[in-house]
Amino acid sequence: MKQLEEVLRPPERNLPPYPAKSIYLASGEKMVVRQASREEVPILLEAVAPLTTVERDFYDIVASRTYAELLGWLRYRVRDEYCLVGLIDGVLVGLVNGRTLSKKIGVSYHTIAMRRGLRVGAHLFAAKMEYHIEYLGQDEVYIVAESPIGFRRWMIEYPLVERPQVHHELGGVMSWALTRDIYFAAKPRLVAGERPVPANLMATAAKIKLVGAEALITQVSGKPGQA
Ligand SMILES: CC(C)(COP(=O)(O)OP(=O)(O)OC[C@H]1O[C@@H](n2cnc3c(N)ncnc32)[C@H](O)[C@@H]1OP(=O)(O)O)[C@@H](O)C(=O)NCCC(=O)NCCS
Repeated sequence: MKQLEEVLRPPERNLPPYPAKSIYLASGEKMVVRQASREEVPILLEAVAPLTTVERDFYDIVASRTYAELLGWLRYRVRDEYCLVGLIDGVLVGLVNGRTLSKKIGVSYHTIAMRRGLRVGAHLFAAKMEYHIEYLGQDEVYIVAESPIGFRRWMIEYPLVERPQVHHELGGVMSWALTRDIYFAAKPRLVAGERPVPANLMATAAKIKLVGAEALITQVSGKPGQA
């Protein structure tokens, strides 16, 4: 049995860590962005699950796929995945995940903003690009959008370039790419945050807290408790 499990598990690389940073949001709040550990996946699944029924802005498809990806990480069924979380006073306000395809190529999976109107998602996506380019030292990241807001945020704001020959692993859609040149050109505009995070602020982000399903649905869809 143990032998079979070894066959079922993809080999894993030891990815360099993402150093935490803090971002001053338009609301005046500070969001800590840090790497999540595999041990934290169960609480992330709990956070994402209520969004799988929210049709607004394609939260349902994005949350369902993110749920499967995170579960795949927990159960050792995906190769080289990582997840970064955004926390305000320890409360989860968004997350991003992705993986490495090879030493030089990264794959962006998903971005979910759990609080709207503060560019939490945009900041977290930028942190994910920062991780691939500056900490993993990759040449480019394959990206797709599953929603018009995502398309506006990534393809247009950076802007990304098309990679028509690459069918992204999220549904086989044509990939777009963030190259090193695109990243460094966009960095002054889009990549925010300060390091190191002061110890007292970092301490608030040690344990992930959730707002609860009803409040979360209201936050993302504007409708209390229903999608
Ligand atoms: C795409 C996403 C990550 C962007 O996050 P973000 O940068 O924090 O942006 P928000 O979601 O707060 O805002 C997006 C737009 O909705 C508007 N908006 C703000 N508050 C809102 C609210 N409470 N409800 C609905 N829309 C709101 C904003 O005005 C913003 O418009 P803008 O582009 O002109 O600024 C986020 O919208 C999201 O999680 N969407 C669902 C999942 C998804 O599509 N992920 C990306 C897959 S490619």
